[in-house]
Amino acid sequence: MKRKDLLYKGKAKSVYTTDTKGKLIVEFRDDITAFDGGKKDTLENKGNYNAEVSAFFFEYLKQNGVKTHFFTMLDPHHMVVRKLEMIPLEVIVRNIAAGSLVRNYPFREGTPLHPPLIVIDYKDDSRHDPMLNDEIIIALKFLTPSELKKVKTTALEVNRLLSGLLAAQGITLVDFKIEFGRQGKTIYLGDEISMDSMRLWDKKTGESLDKDVYRFEKGDVMAIYNKVAQRITRSVKKQ
Ligand SMILES: Nc1ncnc2c1ncn2[C@@H]1O[C@H](COP(=O)(O)OP(=O)(O)O)[C@@H](O)[C@H]1O
Ligand SMILES: [Mg+2]
Repeated sequence: MKRKDLLYKGKAKSVYTTDTKGKLIVEFRDDITAFDGGKKDTLENKGNYNAEVSAFFFEYLKQNGVKTHFFTMLDPHHMVVRKLEMIPLEVIVRNIAAGSLVRNYPFREGTPLHPPLIVIDYKDDSRHDPMLNDEIIIALKFLTPSELKKVKTTALEVNRLLSGLLAAQGITLVDFKIEFGRQGKTIYLGDEISMDSMRLWDKKTGESLDKDVYRFEKGDVMAIYNKVAQRITRSVKKQ
């Protein structure tokens, strides 16, 4: 498969058209950003660690009946995906209070959330991704009521599957963000599921194993991404 034109250059990935209809190539670049792009760096190999973990999760989710955009990896930085019309929503599932939930609402960091919370934000950097509610999502026609129900069920299913997988590696899935897109009438899980889009805590030490290491300068980001990628992908080899 050949990479053709650059369709979109985001903060951490670039999307290219290909010579195959309905398929795109997503390049996981080594760029890392935080705080609405206010903090930016390029860290060697960051892209391939995220791509590897994403591919691994998409594969696992597919085996468990979740429809994802993932086809295959071309090389450690390039993923072949189904071309989707992205829905501008960030679907966030939270198992433990952390991050913006603690900043914006009176939750104490580390409080378990039973059942998990689903929060849906409008993906628009210029508006700082404001939180939506079901009525706004439907009024803006981002999703129909039945699609919204399906998206929420899928998000919880992804949470159940990935929480279990990570727990087996001694990692707590604190929260994560996913994006969905459409091909025709079918909604697929798109984008990525990586250390940039999840919050992961070591079960034993409580140490951050995700982009919080970069956000808050908690340690050597790449050493941690490398280690956590190995830890996560090892879980398949054992099964
Ligand atoms: N299967 C897909 N088809 C089309 N676009 C996609 C697909 N998966 C992800 N995208 C989009 O590609 C972009 C990936 O680049 P990224 O750096 O994450 O961008 P952003 O800064 O917008 O988050 C995102 O805007 C995402 O919504
Ligand atoms: Mg993104």
